Amino acid sequence: MKIIGTKDYEHMSQAAAEIIIEKIKEKPDMVLGLATGASPLQTYRCLAQRYQEGSLSLKQVSAFNLDEYAGLPKTHEQSFYHYIKENLISQTDLQEENVHVLHGMAEDAELECKAYEERIAQLGGIDIQLLGIGLDGHIGFNEPDHIFSMTAHVSNLEEETRQANAKYFSRLEEVPKKAMTMGIGTIMQAEALLLLVSGREKAVVLAQALYGPINPQLPASIVQIHHNCTVVVDEPALQELKKAKDTCFRRYQYETF
Ligand code: F6R
Repeated sequence: MKIIGTKDYEHMSQAAAEIIIEKIKEKPDMVLGLATGASPLQTYRCLAQRYQEGSLSLKQVSAFNLDEYAGLPKTHEQSFYHYIKENLISQTDLQEENVHVLHGMAEDAELECKAYEERIAQLGGIDIQLLGIGLDGHIGFNEPDHIFSMTAHVSNLEEETRQANAKYFSRLEEVPKKAMTMGIGTIMQAEALLLLVSGREKAVVLAQALYGPINPQLPASIVQIHHNCTVVVDEPALQELKKAKDTCFRRYQYETF
């Protein structure tokens, strides 16, 4: 595990974008796993800027969205598809047909999830999976549970998660109660994980995830055993890691950007 400390959200995003750009240079047809929400937003803007400057092309890149709200059509402003369309597809040459999503309105959600796993496998797996962490330790929409889920599935959203995401909707009641998400197993099979963490409110859960026990009650803790996980953290989110680091036997590689 490599932990890259950065000054602030802007620098965290630049550092993350650089990692993705390096991979695209090495493998122009790479497969990128896309997270949504606040954590990766500026990273996508950095990629868009590079594209607009003419120094980056995502034309051959394939992408898989990490998750989607169940019951929201693709056209809904708060669907994760819409987010990716707005922030990446329309801002770069990433081809819409190369962006794979879980369809929130699928009649048979289980079948949709199964087909999603197959599509990932057909493209040879994910090269870099972007992740954010929820306040309850979720990654994707894998909420705290008594087991780690293996494959893509339908999940019930925790109240804390719905409340955190309510800012994007006009009322809490509008936030869907269910979502479809890649499983922990799907995420762990990615060649590399890139976890972005920003803000003081994420500091405690991040330290628990990286230095606490590996436990499905804190799904993000699984990244401890991924063979190639990079965590890009800004200074406020780094605070508790600094303390935990001296009280735990685990040793990670720390770098600054
Ligand atoms: C989003 C996702 C979630 C978020 C997490 C953090 O696709 O899968 O796990 O990464 O809820 O959200 P932000 O970044 O908005 O704090």
